Amino acid sequence: GRIRHYKWEVKYEFKSPDCYKKLVIAINGRTPGPSIIAQEGDTIIVELKNSLLTENVAIHWHGIRQIGTPWSDGTEGVTQCPILPGDTFTYKFVVDRPGTYLYHAHYGMQREAGLYGSIRVSVKDGVSEPFTYDYDRSIILNDWYHKNTYEQATGLSSKPFVWVGEPQSLLIQGRGRFNCSSPILGSTNVCNSTNPKCSPYVITVVPGKTYRLRISSLTSLSALNFEIEGHNMTVVEADGHYVEPFVIKNLNIYSGETYSVLVKADQDPSRNYWAASNVISRKPATPTGLAIFNYYPNHPRRSPTSIPPTGPLWNDTSYRVAQSLSIKARQGYILPPPVKSDRVITLLNTQNEIDGYRRWAVNNVSFNLPHTPYLIALKEKLRHSFDQTPPPENYDYKNYDIYKKQDNANATSSNSIYRLKFNSTVDIILQNANTMVVNNSETHPWHLHGHDFWVLGYGMGKFDPIEDPKKYNLANPIMKNTVPVHSYGWTALRFIADNPGVWAFHCHIEAHFYMGMGVVFEEGVEKVGRLPSSIMGCGETKGFNRP
Ligand code: C2O
Ligand code: CU
Repeated sequence: GRIRHYKWEVKYEFKSPDCYKKLVIAINGRTPGPSIIAQEGDTIIVELKNSLLTENVAIHWHGIRQIGTPWSDGTEGVTQCPILPGDTFTYKFVVDRPGTYLYHAHYGMQREAGLYGSIRVSVKDGVSEPFTYDYDRSIILNDWYHKNTYEQATGLSSKPFVWVGEPQSLLIQGRGRFNCSSPILGSTNVCNSTNPKCSPYVITVVPGKTYRLRISSLTSLSALNFEIEGHNMTVVEADGHYVEPFVIKNLNIYSGETYSVLVKADQDPSRNYWAASNVISRKPATPTGLAIFNYYPNHPRRSPTSIPPTGPLWNDTSYRVAQSLSIKARQGYILPPPVKSDRVITLLNTQNEIDGYRRWAVNNVSFNLPHTPYLIALKEKLRHSFDQTPPPENYDYKNYDIYKKQDNANATSSNSIYRLKFNSTVDIILQNANTMVVNNSETHPWHLHGHDFWVLGYGMGKFDPIEDPKKYNLANPIMKNTVPVHSYGWTALRFIADNPGVWAFHCHIEAHFYMGMGVVFEEGVEKVGRLPSSIMGCGETKGFNRP
């Protein structure tokens, strides 16, 4: 493969992505940052200069497995020390599979400040894909808050707890439109709806042509539904894997997921159409995010006169479960999972309280990142840098009522990790439950670093360890790196622990991971090569930071 070298400078800048001026984190002046466009087998080198003045940074390459380069995963506290202001850190890794991937900050809650972008990996020369299209476009969906990350993080870690609330806007490829005459703003000069910078994103299409739209979501909180008025979409790829094609009117997409859909410009070409994203699974309090699906040669800024799509009912869980279930591996591209697993880890997702602080927990343990990154601690045998007791493999399965608000919401917190036997097959059962509010269960998109997993099944209610595995799809399960666990439901995954390193597995909702909703897996750390000293320098690794 080729070497693709990027020089990025990460900096705070004032920008108005939705007309409202705030501090955003930009890469080389842009948010979303520059796209990485590469071919299978290429080596990506990103020289990242942290010019944030007073803040650390780290960037994760979401969906890239980092085989042989676990230190380039960019997960602060897990695989590296944070990059200090003024420092330059070099990420180097191979993009070993074609598909649609992402990158984003993985330090504190920085991602939602705008530090993100897309990675598109095409197939090798001479290889053809199982579908055809005329043009290829990437679109990142996001939600957007006007408060800065620090104000939000401080609220989340305060007593009394201050929730971030619903986002102010939904962005499509970094653009949205907040209603600046909204009374909550009063008279300010920070919001200007006539600023051309916040005009809607335009997808221009030539009548009759077919477009591959690579749609991904990096929302901080919201689950979204994306649709293009009057047009069907054929789903062909999910998280870098070919999907047995199916046609939909709208796509449910959870934070951290990527899809490719094929859209044919086959409607009345004399007008433009809305492309819309709407909040689902939480009661929407954010206006529809809009882009213009522009039929050439109509003017790209000509707004459709039609009413923008409002999406499906926000609380129709069965609709979302049905769409999740229809995502299967494509015939001819099926990599069958092992028929049995060596270990089953059940992870109960709950909202909790610790000493009066609001937290999220897994099997009643709320996750904390250690000061010394696990990869370095394990490789250099710094045994005191984190809790060595293994976290629980299950919850109180017999007695726990997942439909009930618990009388006792207490949890413990820990930075302990799951150590997996190298090359073993591991099943994960994500079990959802009621939150600390009666009749409420949220949707959590779980993302695994360093691997793809097979999605064996989804179900409603409490997972039955005897009956439900009999219904697993072992014939053509899709492989993914991010998957939702639906309200009051369960999701079953299987993966092979064959990638030496230390890997985070967490809810991709920014505030949830920040509040403890994650775990960490280690496998084959003794097989990891010599660690670069550039990842060291924090916690107990200070002494190792020598040339
Ligand atoms: Cu895209 Cu650990 O996250
Ligand atoms: Cu969550």
